[in-house]
Amino acid sequence: MCSVWTGSFVFIRNNSIMTESSTTLEQSIQSVRAAALTASEKITSSDELEKYRIEFLARKGRVGNLFDELKSVPPESKPGLGKQLNELRTFADSLYRSAKEKVESATPTRQSFIDLTLPGRRPHIGSLHPITQTLSDITSIFTSMGFSIVDGPEIEDDYHNFEALNFPPDHPARDMQDTFFIEDTILLRTHTSPVQIRVMKERRPPLRVIMPGRVYRNEAISARSYCLFHQVEGLYVDRNVSFSELKGTLVAFAREFYGSSLKYKFRPSFFPFTEPSLEMDITCFLCSGKGCRVCKHSGWLEILGAGMVHPNVLRNVGYDPEEFTGFAFGIGVERTTLLRHNISDIRLLFENDIRFLKQF
Ligand code: PHE
Repeated sequence: MCSVWTGSFVFIRNNSIMTESSTTLEQSIQSVRAAALTASEKITSSDELEKYRIEFLARKGRVGNLFDELKSVPPESKPGLGKQLNELRTFADSLYRSAKEKVESATPTRQSFIDLTLPGRRPHIGSLHPITQTLSDITSIFTSMGFSIVDGPEIEDDYHNFEALNFPPDHPARDMQDTFFIEDTILLRTHTSPVQIRVMKERRPPLRVIMPGRVYRNEAISARSYCLFHQVEGLYVDRNVSFSELKGTLVAFAREFYGSSLKYKFRPSFFPFTEPSLEMDITCFLCSGKGCRVCKHSGWLEILGAGMVHPNVLRNVGYDPEEFTGFAFGIGVERTTLLRHNISDIRLLFENDIRFLKQF
């Protein structure tokens, strides 16, 4: 690239032979101009574009070298040739820019590049939340037995949540259900039993309904209890509904839900709105009754509370307890879900962590 003297008049620079006269410089300008034009028209890639830039526009390129030669022309020719050289530089530069635009518009940029051979992205298919699955399994067992589904409000009044269910004010049974009050007599329901009152007030027996839903209790949050959970309430009122029908219904449900080899027992219990009251336990299926951490080493797990509808409750809704009898039950949905899937912490069900939920 460096200039080599070959005599007093001729030197070789970039393969072009020139003489030290202003006329020759003018010719060189013309020929570089023509060469730049031809070269720029052939550019089809960014490599060729770069080659063009180095050949013509770089500091030691063909245009730059002609500027060097300007130093050795007679002073009177300098302004004219200088102007021509500037024009050449602008010209070569504009050829470069338009070639660059052409190359760039022909080469797809990274952003717009679509590789059609890549496999498609599968849409993410979600699944039902484990609580929703349990709820729908429980409800479908009862609907197949002829129960229909009824909904009730989550914000309740004291009357429906407690009083009509035979919890007098200040009765110690209220302590079992630590309550979130919104106002003095307005609260988040602590169980689904108030829906029993609403249904019975609205309809006449025979009544066979289940009432699934969300309930709230002011509990200290731990691996076993949460401030919100779900229950499925059941109610059957008609003439001559008996305690053995209650037991038969619960056993049929539990066998269907947990499997026919299930072992169960009924224990006497207390609820203000049922008399007599019971709780149903099933053998812990984690340890098959041997005793483990989950069943607190008793071998049994409580799955529901139930009983015959208390005559006071029937009176409160305007039914004659001499004419009608009924049974009611309440199943804890979270407990059932934890047992089914061997989940050790109830909080997992409410955190909505997709890594956890994806497993169901
Ligand atoms: N409502 C009771 C509870 O939450 C459960 C229950 C429902 C008991 C119906 C008997 C009859 O503890």
